[in-house]
Amino acid sequence: MKMRSSFTLSLCVLGLTSVAFAGDTSYSPVSITTPFSEMMKSDIKNKPALMKKHHKLLNERYNLSEKVDPKATMSGGKPLPVGPTVKLKSGTSWDKLSALTPNEIKKKGLFPYLPLPHVSPDGGGLVVSKKQLETHPELVRFDMDFDLPNAYLPEFPAPLYLISRPDLGDVSKGEEITINNYYHKFNGILTPFQLEGLRLLVTPVAQQQFNVTDDRKAEKAQDAVTCFSCHVNGHTSGVFHLNPDNRPQDTRFRIDTPSLRGVNIQHFFGSKRALRTLEDFSEVEAKTAYFDGDPVIALKKGARRFTREEIAAMAAMQNMIAFPPAPKLGIDGKLNPKKATKSELRGEKLFATNCASCHSAPYYTDNSAHDLQVERFYKGRAEGLIKTFALRGIKDTPPYLHDGRLLTLEDTVEFFNLILELDLKKNEKTDLVSFLRAL
Ligand code: HEC
Ligand code: HEC
Repeated sequence: MKMRSSFTLSLCVLGLTSVAFAGDTSYSPVSITTPFSEMMKSDIKNKPALMKKHHKLLNERYNLSEKVDPKATMSGGKPLPVGPTVKLKSGTSWDKLSALTPNEIKKKGLFPYLPLPHVSPDGGGLVVSKKQLETHPELVRFDMDFDLPNAYLPEFPAPLYLISRPDLGDVSKGEEITINNYYHKFNGILTPFQLEGLRLLVTPVAQQQFNVTDDRKAEKAQDAVTCFSCHVNGHTSGVFHLNPDNRPQDTRFRIDTPSLRGVNIQHFFGSKRALRTLEDFSEVEAKTAYFDGDPVIALKKGARRFTREEIAAMAAMQNMIAFPPAPKLGIDGKLNPKKATKSELRGEKLFATNCASCHSAPYYTDNSAHDLQVERFYKGRAEGLIKTFALRGIKDTPPYLHDGRLLTLEDTVEFFNLILELDLKKNEKTDLVSFLRAL
């Protein structure tokens, strides 16, 4: 019953109340009977209330002061945001929280790191930051806006480092790589096959919200989304959407775009789906992930079906995208004691004891997935197994966790301190953050 009402609600958001379901279903409505102009009008009307509700939730949970550390920067020079950003319930402190058992925290409703919902969990879809929209008006949605402040997002555009040419440093030269400039930037640097892969990664195609059909969410009818719309410059700009791999609609998580840096060392792809090759993932991403994991909708909206050779070229290019330089790490991926500070070295020790069983050097992943059982701390749906993301270059990819609920590295340390029940002291947490910044 509950699921049924959620579908009715999602139809209202879409302005599709005339379509009725017989019961729970895995599928989205295919034939849209409401004209585009009517749907757009109703979405625009509903938007202020939707945004107000979501910002209320954000402000209840977070202190979004955009505090940064001007001395510590991402690879391209953007200052790192400083946390913890979550607000603790009155009368609680970090020490008091870690003295409680998971069950006590759950019962009292004190867990500060609840799953972060999509701005519209019913509507879902790709949402692009305000900063990115300045140069990409074609990605403006009329039904909702991006939610998090710029300080908590990766650099836009982020630098791109090539595995094949570390001598060149940032080959993007501070510009966003698009279909208009990729050729001149990379001709002579990449192989012809990689260059063809890059072309495909920056070629706009149809996507669920940006296409020509009546239920799109952009004013202009056009195919507007490239792989690099979300993985900007082979990294990420913090674009989020809903995970494409489960149903019904109200059980789908918000999912933050991961970086493609270092995909060459990874053994499986996707936070849950665990596709075994980069080629398979790239194919699935274009064929169904673009369309909410729904092949019926993909067919309707004009999915681009890449040939296996094109997919191989796209993978060949992605395999060249390197982690950013980490000058303090040695060839084993561990800190070089001659270059590291005392705090970083203490942090490395704490990391070795508490974190390295899952995040092992040199890339700080075990290429596996774990169920962190976060639902031990809150009432709500269990999130299950999630891929151990690599922590190399982690300072460049806020917000953290699959849904981006941890806005800063300080938040990641507080989160793991609670869920691993470590009871770390304040200075130990500072040391761990120093270490993470050096990766
Ligand atoms: C709407 C934004 C968006 C677009 C467009 C997009 N991706 Fe992704 N990509 C994501 C998200 C979100 C994930 C994480 C999915 C998951 O965990 O299941 C992801 C995951 C990946 C991964 C796996 C990374 C990992 O660490 O496991 C690869 C590889 C990838 N995308 C390649 C591509 C390619 C190739 C294209 C173009 C065909 C593309 N992506 C287009 C958002 C996007
Ligand atoms: C039991 C295995 C395990 C241990 C131990 C562990 N992690 Fe993780 N870590 C994970 C998994 C799995 C994820 C992805 C979880 C998610 O997205 O929901 C993750 C995610 C992260 C992220 C965010 C990555 C990103 O790209 O968003 C950071 C940062 C992190 N861990 C740091 C730590 C630190 C610091 C410690 C030790 C205090 C630690 N982890 C201990 C498994 C572990």
